[in-house]
Amino acid sequence: MPKKTNKKPKPHTKRQRKLRVPKNWPLWLLLLALSAFFGGFIYIKSAPRYPLLPKPPSDAPYKQVSQPLSKRVDDLLSRMTLDEKIGQMALVDKGSLKKTVDISRYNLGGVLSGAGAKPANNTPEGWLKMVSEKKDQAKQSRLGIPLLYGIDANHGNGNVPGSTVFPHAIGLGAANDAQLTQQVATATAEEIKATGINWSFSPSLDAPNDIRWGRVYEAFSSDPNINASLGAAYVNGTQQTQVLATAKHFFGTGSMIWGKSNNKDFRIDQGVVAVDDAALQNKYLVPYTAAAKAEVATVMVGLTFWGDKRIIDDRSLLTDKLKNELGFKGFVVSDWYGTYEYSKTSNYQANIKTINAGLDMAMLPFDYKNFISDVHKAVERHEIPQSRIDDAVKRILTQKFKAGLFDESATATPPINTIGSQTHRQLARQTVAASAVLLKNQKDVLPLAKQGSRIFVAGSGADNVGRQCGAWTVEWQGIDGNWLPGSTSVLAGLRQVAPDNSIEYNKLANFNGKADVAIAVVSEKPYAEGWGDNANPHLEDADLKVIEKLKAVSNKVIVVIVSGRPLILSDKTLESDAIVAAWLPGSEGAGVADLLFGNKLFTAKLPVVWPTNINQDTALYERGYGLKTEPTS
Ligand code: BGC
Repeated sequence: MPKKTNKKPKPHTKRQRKLRVPKNWPLWLLLLALSAFFGGFIYIKSAPRYPLLPKPPSDAPYKQVSQPLSKRVDDLLSRMTLDEKIGQMALVDKGSLKKTVDISRYNLGGVLSGAGAKPANNTPEGWLKMVSEKKDQAKQSRLGIPLLYGIDANHGNGNVPGSTVFPHAIGLGAANDAQLTQQVATATAEEIKATGINWSFSPSLDAPNDIRWGRVYEAFSSDPNINASLGAAYVNGTQQTQVLATAKHFFGTGSMIWGKSNNKDFRIDQGVVAVDDAALQNKYLVPYTAAAKAEVATVMVGLTFWGDKRIIDDRSLLTDKLKNELGFKGFVVSDWYGTYEYSKTSNYQANIKTINAGLDMAMLPFDYKNFISDVHKAVERHEIPQSRIDDAVKRILTQKFKAGLFDESATATPPINTIGSQTHRQLARQTVAASAVLLKNQKDVLPLAKQGSRIFVAGSGADNVGRQCGAWTVEWQGIDGNWLPGSTSVLAGLRQVAPDNSIEYNKLANFNGKADVAIAVVSEKPYAEGWGDNANPHLEDADLKVIEKLKAVSNKVIVVIVSGRPLILSDKTLESDAIVAAWLPGSEGAGVADLLFGNKLFTAKLPVVWPTNINQDTALYERGYGLKTEPTS
């Protein structure tokens, strides 16, 4: 900062501007030479090493749609400098981009919005504008390679207020309907694409074994075959819309051991997978085989360890198994900060290890400048073979070409009102009804009569769309409350579906008089990742009280559980007349009402075991359990 003085500046006259040789010119000359030297040094260190290369001609083969894909890839690759290649291997969080121009300056391969990384104008239009600016910047680079923009749209494009929020994956696993899953994935991809985004970090192929894990709901099931069939359906549904899908988190995720997390804030997430070779082959690789067959564009490697080794460092898994044995042709991407997280080496060495193991694109997500210069140095020193870099970039470019990103004018962006459209909301409502599992239905209390009853509704989840949607909804950890635009709470759904009943609501179940039926919608607070690790997931005291109070004012009590995992149920809860596991149904609470009033029949089955107690040694309900309701005449 120049120092402020009280002196008035001299007027700029022509005379003053006339060039005069200063008296102490040797000193000035020395200063000039030194600043040129250091300035140049800083420039060379920080700028990519291709500033003066010419742009390729407009008829270069890679720019021509009519050319075969492999020829386009090879042509483009042959024109790239080493730094342009390494730039393609970098995936940066939008919040860590120092300047938008860095996208073209460093030829970055991808930008992501980590959960909650939203535009200042957090509307569908705001998202489209933010993403388009970044994609347009990429086109300004010498080679004009299109940018990937990635997002965790794991239950609809839930980051965007006003989008359709579908049930989280565990609900899809309960429905276990590949065709429906594919439709959900396509609708989600359309809402993603309407914001300009072209890469979804879904589906999860994790197989949860322990209800204490904070990511149970992100997975379809603990059954490898369900994960295989729904995973492939999800990939197809996403990629048919020309949005890249991601199978994650490779591999063994869900089998971790409680108390062995590497993260001091977590208990089981980001821990050590307990998988022997047989389980690797028969359980955890099964869905990845199906995903590779469905030509999934990317596979994300988790932040887990196998024994004492980070999976991201394991060449036998990333290259030998996934790429060579399973025939995965897409590119391998790391998880958030995955190259460096829990690495005992320097970042320089971690880059060498992971890229040599088979990592193609690093979700850095912060520092891209050092990544590029470190990897450049490692290639020059032959610590990473040039052929490995070429293979990684070839894989990335192939997926960009396959998704039509180079020819985007040929693929239309869906209109902005695709987001939260009635068609999608209708599909979501249908999915909710297909996903809720009926655990108990004493004396066929369900379905309820559509008219003429006095119904009391209570509980923490009855009028709380934030809880219905769970985490990964606008904010990483979700928002507890009834706030999401365009959505319908379970309560609103009940009123909508059965307007001829008298429905009274009080969250804490403070009612006067008697009801014919009472519905307790009990719930978990939203949580994501290791923040949801919980030593004993069970109902909140307030909800237990609600159930008790309802029993005092109604002969029939139905408990609807809104949760991301099976919860340990008390004996008193189990004495209720009906129990429904609604999982995290999302924005369309009317889907739950459709089931309770018999517009739809219960058909879903538990996709994971529902344990009796927290030792998880006995099953209250086995995987595959689920009662059906019959049509009423
Ligand atoms: C999660 C991934 C997610 C990534 C990007 C990580 O913390 O483990 O599932 O795709 O962040 O948001």
